[in-house]
Amino acid sequence: MKLKKKIKVAIDSPAGAGAGTQAKLIAKNYNLFYLDTGKIYRVVAYFKISKPKQFNYTNIKKKIKRLKTKDLQNKKLLTNKVAIVASIISKDKKIRSLVHNFQIRCAYYPPKKYSGSCLDGRDITYKIIPDADFKFFITANVKTRALRRYKELKQLKKKITFNEVIKSIKKRDKSDYNRKISPLKKTKDSILINTTNLTKRACFLKIKKIMDDKIKS
Ligand code: C5P
Repeated sequence: MKLKKKIKVAIDSPAGAGAGTQAKLIAKNYNLFYLDTGKIYRVVAYFKISKPKQFNYTNIKKKIKRLKTKDLQNKKLLTNKVAIVASIISKDKKIRSLVHNFQIRCAYYPPKKYSGSCLDGRDITYKIIPDADFKFFITANVKTRALRRYKELKQLKKKITFNEVIKSIKKRDKSDYNRKISPLKKTKDSILINTTNLTKRACFLKIKKIMDDKIKS
């Protein structure tokens, strides 16, 4: 569908709910710039793990300033260890504000060739793009989410058991939902999409219908 004006799509979700997959499909369908905001916390987490002695606010700021979207594709960011450290460092107010600047730029000033932006994360609907044209909260039950993450990690040939993945998802849920700064929550104006019993395609069609109906009206 051709858009008459630029749009912004905000998605929040707990780990493994399929938000990234849906966000990519939305971005492709509507020609939007896509940003997986969790990847930026993962970059900072990887920096902490790989260069602990250089890990300070000044260097984090420099790192984010130099960050290119292609750096976010690095496979090293996908490990369980990086995910856990990301959920720890993301509780730091100062780190969040450094990361937020980058995310806000991507949301409000995407490259010209795009018809808008689509971001997914934990605080996108109320902190990064509070005036988004579309807001979704994508979730699924914890077992389904852990199974999806487990399959992804196995495909990447990571040595991990299903029990370890479910434990890690529960730990991150607890931390993301309960932290004081920017906790994960479903805002009143977000549409709930539960992907537990939906295929990727069925889920996307549901979202697309919601978006197309609003765009046409
Ligand atoms: O989405 P992903 O699993 O890559 O996110 C890694 C961690 O980064 C999350 O568990 C969460 O603690 C943090 N995060 C966040 N705010 C976002 C995106 C991710 O705090 N917008």
